[in-house]
Amino acid sequence: MATQCTARRSEALPRRRCPVAPDRDPDYRAGDMDLRKTVFGLILLLAVLGPQVRGADPFGVRAPNGIVVSPSIHASEAGAQVLRDGGNAADATVATALVLAVTYPLAGNLAGGGFILYRSPDGEHHALDCREVAPAALTAEMFLDEEGRAKPLLSRRGGLAVGVPGSVAGLAELHRKHGKLPWKRLVQPAIEIARKGFPLTRRDAHHLASQNKVLNRHPESGAIFTDDGAPHPAGFRLVQKDLAATLRLLARKGPEGFYRGPVAEGIVQTVRDTGGVMTLQDLADYKPVWREPLVGSYRGYRVVTFPPPSSGGIALLQMLGMLEAHDLAKSGAGASRTIHRMTEIERRVYADRSRWLGDPDFYDVPTAELLDPAYLRLRAADISMDEATPSEKVAPGEPRAVESRQTLHFSVADRDGGAIAMTTTLNGPLGTGMVGEGTGVLLNNEIDDFALAQGVANTWGLLGGEANAVKGNKRPLSSMTPTLLEQQEGGDWKLRMVLGSPGGGKIITSVLQVLLNYVDHDMHAQAAVNAPRFHHQWHPDELMLEPTGFVHDVIQALEKRGHRVTVQRGMFGNVNAIEAAEDGGWIGAPDPRRESRAAGH
Ligand code: GLY
Repeated sequence: MATQCTARRSEALPRRRCPVAPDRDPDYRAGDMDLRKTVFGLILLLAVLGPQVRGADPFGVRAPNGIVVSPSIHASEAGAQVLRDGGNAADATVATALVLAVTYPLAGNLAGGGFILYRSPDGEHHALDCREVAPAALTAEMFLDEEGRAKPLLSRRGGLAVGVPGSVAGLAELHRKHGKLPWKRLVQPAIEIARKGFPLTRRDAHHLASQNKVLNRHPESGAIFTDDGAPHPAGFRLVQKDLAATLRLLARKGPEGFYRGPVAEGIVQTVRDTGGVMTLQDLADYKPVWREPLVGSYRGYRVVTFPPPSSGGIALLQMLGMLEAHDLAKSGAGASRTIHRMTEIERRVYADRSRWLGDPDFYDVPTAELLDPAYLRLRAADISMDEATPSEKVAPGEPRAVESRQTLHFSVADRDGGAIAMTTTLNGPLGTGMVGEGTGVLLNNEIDDFALAQGVANTWGLLGGEANAVKGNKRPLSSMTPTLLEQQEGGDWKLRMVLGSPGGGKIITSVLQVLLNYVDHDMHAQAAVNAPRFHHQWHPDELMLEPTGFVHDVIQALEKRGHRVTVQRGMFGNVNAIEAAEDGGWIGAPDPRRESRAAGH
């Protein structure tokens, strides 16, 4: 039995407790229950989860007039202040994202990219793709040795790893189309924090220390993010003067201040000095793209999510499509039967991802075919409930015949019903660890999200092929899955939840599990977010579990079916979600896995 916080949405909010899930695991009843182990597991779980959720409201944070949930208290506060000052969700998104570039250097960024999923107050959906693109002169051969073998380090470190950044252009475009407050007002909080500095939390200091070696390879990065080569301690006030100057230019000139002039020159200088091929023209040419969001359904809910070059939206809808035929509420959250079924589906969907998904401007992604219910039925037909299918026996399907920590997600909702789910990334922690000369701007290593060669896994262990091969001007495939959940009420589709996650390949399964916890297992958003997570991505053939929340008996039952279960050291994803409160207003559900916080209006 998995024990988890399954506080039910149907109970009155303030009275909800966090009951232990009842035992609904058939294998469990079959006689292999060991009560002592279960009780031990439960005590262990409470001991470990207790400190993680301490300080956070177990039922989420209520705010009647708008809310921002992000992995940085400074960023959530800046966004919420914009809402208080009369700004809308688009305005708050701009302010939040820019502060994250200052206070969350691990993934917050100016020189990264992301996806923005926007819902207007009147219920229209828009997907803004501000993913990085490969510099025009980049070729697949640059990442191969003389024998044609991939050199993965080149796509992770140094100039060749850097994609042309999209975040700034995306935020400016979002503001141009949907913002209300002046651009300068929205950039101001980031300028102030970069200029005055902010105290590093223990976790901030830990993250920077973990990248100390990389940062010290680049004197400019070392000068900002280390103390003469040693890690900054917790409590240290991190001042970023160059970044403040870059932000001032951005405030004054808009995106022109980033994509042309001294900032662009500094970025290109660093990239080229370290072996890259990016040019000033690449930066001047960068354009975000408005795309048609993917709209699917699940048990009567409308699921609005991101299209390619995200793989997450298609994969999420494929998994939901295969799961809908099964009564997950009956088999129970955390039961081995439920985990087994989901794992088998994940295995097949990640195999499809490796074959069929890439930048739709370069590769004809068979979206409709991958989501065709007939294809999904066929794809799930060989799943046995008795045993795991080894991944080597699972190939990508043929839909045409009938798919960290180092990214971040935040959610915003305003008083008028406008909402935004934005996932943004530098890819690896602090990207390449290099800053553009004189700019204070950390540079991404998003090129690693391409498939360098068949069978060569990227940082996230994900495989790919032709659809996601390296090519100039092409966008690397992403797993980022910003998603909105809606439900029909009196003829209108009402927003129920805003969600998304970081976590590389684990993004998609993190979003899936929170969504299922909410819809199938009747948890309120905070419980759905807190519940333990697992993940399978076809290769490696491993059913990965978070370190807490899965007790011995469930693990045993899964192993008996043939799963190779590995209990990981780290937690999965960081789903910063917002739920519509039943009595109006919003409830923020920050993920306790990082120092996420909600700030409301
Ligand atoms: N860089 C991680 C992703 O986009 O999936």
